Order: sequence, then structure tokens, then C-alpha cells
Amino acid sequence: MARREQLEGKVAIVTGASSGVGWQSAVRLAEQGVRLCVTARRREALESLRKEVEDAGGECLVVPGDVTVGEDVDRVVRECLARYGRIDLLVNDAGVQTYGYFDQLPWEHIQRTVDVTCLGFLRFAHAVLPHFRAQGSGHVLNIQSMLSKGAAPLLSAYTAAKHATLGWAKALTLELHGTGIQVSNVLVPSVSTPMFDHAPTQFDKKPVPVPPTYDVDLVARAVVKCALRPGRTEVPAFLQGKLMLWMDRVAPFVGSFVLSRYGVRMQMEQQPVHRPEGNLFQPVPEGVGAYGSVPPTPRWKRFTAAAGLAALAGGVLGGAALGARGLARVVR
Ligand SMILES: NC(=O)c1ccc[n+]([C@@H]2O[C@H](COP(=O)([O-])OP(=O)(O)OC[C@H]3O[C@@H](n4cnc5c(N)ncnc54)[C@H](OP(=O)(O)O)[C@@H]3O)[C@@H](O)[C@H]2O)c1
Repeated sequence: MARREQLEGKVAIVTGASSGVGWQSAVRLAEQGVRLCVTARRREALESLRKEVEDAGGECLVVPGDVTVGEDVDRVVRECLARYGRIDLLVNDAGVQTYGYFDQLPWEHIQRTVDVTCLGFLRFAHAVLPHFRAQGSGHVLNIQSMLSKGAAPLLSAYTAAKHATLGWAKALTLELHGTGIQVSNVLVPSVSTPMFDHAPTQFDKKPVPVPPTYDVDLVARAVVKCALRPGRTEVPAFLQGKLMLWMDRVAPFVGSFVLSRYGVRMQMEQQPVHRPEGNLFQPVPEGVGAYGSVPPTPRWKRFTAAAGLAALAGGVLGGAALGARGLARVVR
């Protein structure tokens, strides 16, 4: 069956759709004929998305809301059902991060980051699952992060939230076995979204993603792929994706070495900003649309880094193998 036919007419709620991954995923899903209900706090931004989707021939309902407010979540689900009569897909995307050393982060920042980035996913799934059960079908698609498995300095609360969200998603998958309801995850690398233009920081320097940074469309295409074939954990990038996960298994000290020494510097530009609260508690006007101010890393740079990393891993493994042989000889 052609891709478009498979998703044509399905109904999706996309959270965090006023910018970044959520925005671009909504656009890509609408191209496949998916009817949208989009939510986030910034109504004007969502209205711009609606216009873009409708201009391209799609359907889009805007229901603003805050993922930390239970009544807002219930209202989004209610209005989506009132308009379309069903929900087939929940794209859990809304997230915030806050930059700072763990012990210097205000406690409210830590709580809020977990509340939005982790509990927001759980709240939406909790509200949608009864409808999925009644329908005997449905799909919870979670926008995870490479930090759902790994870690980065200055992002401890966010890392905790993302690890917890992946753990929850795994448990949910087990519970829903045989129900016709599927759970998918996309392990997102650093992507060129506005997240870094409105995230709060304890430093007076602009936060930037751990390189390399990918085009946000890479993630949106992975979302469509999961929507077509649910029940998978998709790793869309190679270098900051499949290769890194493999490296973490065979030579975990490489990542720890790099990030413990250079991870802080990597995530700050010299450009001054003063953004202690950013978009954490209140939405800010900055950062609408799919793309942010940090451009994707050119492909040739990603290839060079991947080749370097692979050579390093090869060297480490080769060295370990030789060491093991030597040890075996001595022991013999
Ligand atoms: N960018 C990356 O490098 C990267 C890497 C790995 C994973 N991710 C994941 O991708 C997802 C989207 O991030 P992004 O990069 O697209 O960032 P983004 O552009 O900042 O998008 C975050 C979205 O969440 C919404 N949001 C924030 N707080 C909210 C709240 N309390 N209630 C409702 N909506 C709220 C924001 O809209 P409003 O302000 O209008 O509410 C915005 O639409 C997140 O789950 C993030 O963890 C991103």
C-alpha cells in the first residue's frame, strides 16, 4: 500500500507543536493525510502552523494548553474527539531543558523540567489510553533523546526526565501487549530546533547542542516512519545515534572522557544571553517554526568525525584484543 494511503484520514494529537520537532513532525504527518490536533502554550505559533498545514491541503485543529495542567490535557483530548470522533496517534513531544550545574539549578527548575518533559508524556498517554482501549487500537509515539540512554553535563534534570520517560515507555509496551495499542520511541540526536533559543540557562552565554547537530527534518521523517510501522524504537542518526550507542556498549569510557572534559564548553557559545528562566514556566515569543538559530553540522564534518570515532573504537578494540591475548598467554 502506498505510504499516503496507509495514514490518510488518521487522527493525531501532536504536543509541543509550536516549534521544532513537533512543528516539523506535524507538517510531515499532514503531508501523509493525517488529520491533526496540535497543542502547546503559544496560540499564535500554533495558528501559523495551522495556516501552513491548511494551505497545503491538510486539516489542523489548534487547542492551546500546558502539559503540566491536567485539565488542559483533558481538554485537548476532548476537543480532538469532538472534532474528529477518534484519535489514532499521540505524538508526545513537548519538552524543556534547563542549563546549569545540578547543585546550582533552582529546585523549581528541576521539578518543572521533569514535570514537562517526563510527566507531560505520561499525562497525555494517561488521558488518551482509555480511548485507545475502547477503540482496540492506537499508537503512543514518544519523542525521546539520545539522552534517554546517555548523559550530558549541565543537563542533569533533562537527562533524568528523558531516562525516566524511556523506562516508562518500555513498561507501557509490556502492559499493552496484545491490546492492539502500540508504543514507539524516536531517539533524537541534537537537532536544529529553536530549543536552544528559548531554553533557560544559569550562564550568561548562549546554549548550543552537543555537536553534531542534525536537520530537524531527519526526526520528522522518523516520526512518519514510526507512524507507518509502529512499535519500534527508531534511531534516525548514524554518528550521534547508532554509532554512539554501539560505542557506549563496547567502549563507554570514550564518551565519558570526551563529555567530562569538553562537554561543558561544547554546550556554550561566546554570544551573551541573559535567560535565567527562558520558556520554562511561561512561553516566550522567541523560537517559532521548525528551525532554530543553530544550523545543522555539514555532512562532510559528520562523516569525518564518524570515521575518526570508528578508527578510535577500532584501535581501542584491537588494543583490547591484543591485551587479552597477551594476558591469556601469561595465564597459560
Ligand atoms: N533539539 C534537540 O536537539 C533535541 C534533542 C533530543 C531530543 N529532543 C526532544 O524533542 C522534543 C522537542 O524539542 P525541540 O527541540 O523541538 O524544542 P522546542 O522547539 O523548544 O519545542 C518544545 C515544544 O514544547 C512546548 N512546550 C514547552 N513547555 C510546555 C508546556 N509546559 N506545555 C505545553 N507545551 C510546552 C513548546 O511550546 P510552547 O512554549 O508554545 O508551550 C514547544 O512547542 C523534546 O521532547 C526534546 O526533549 C530535542
